[in-house]
Amino acid sequence: MSDKSSSSEKIRVRFSHLGLVVSDIEMMEDFYTRVIGFERTDGGMTGQGVVMIFMTLDSSEHHQVFLVEGKPDGIPGNTIIPDGPPVLHHLSFRVDSLSDLQEMYKRLQTESDREIRTVTHGVCWAMYSTDPEGNNIEFFADTPWYVHQPYLKPMDFNIPEDDLYAQTEALLSTEPGFQPIDDFYGDLKTRVPEKVPA
Ligand SMILES: [Fe+2]
Repeated sequence: MSDKSSSSEKIRVRFSHLGLVVSDIEMMEDFYTRVIGFERTDGGMTGQGVVMIFMTLDSSEHHQVFLVEGKPDGIPGNTIIPDGPPVLHHLSFRVDSLSDLQEMYKRLQTESDREIRTVTHGVCWAMYSTDPEGNNIEFFADTPWYVHQPYLKPMDFNIPEDDLYAQTEALLSTEPGFQPIDDFYGDLKTRVPEKVPA
């Protein structure tokens, strides 16, 4: 028997926040608050002279993102995203609807010339770009459908919402596993017993 503990032991763990080490904390605070919509909840300088900022999108969580200065210059990228940070792959944000996602698409376009990739994963529409320091960020809106994963098809977000919706549905309707997302989760419930916390 191993002495190592496992996740089946009844401790409820929920994800709370992520800390980013940044170069220009004012620029990053501006992007995360003004462009994405985070609320700054706290911030200041420690006794050691380190600047920290706390921000959230959730009124029940003091901070979901924590920024601290101290990022060194010349950090090597990784092998998947050579220009990206060495460890962080992406931060992801869910929006309520396809129209909200298209609004955010326009906002990111006016914000900078940074590349924006727009796709559907079948279960969602998604777009990928970067924050001002090159961290990859994703925004997505759920579709009402399911297709087998992994799935990715580029989509043009510049067309009207109704056309984009219809085009996505037509594209997905011939893909393996296509079904309403509620049917997928209804079936999943019969296969995965409810976990009862201790
Ligand atoms: Fe993601």
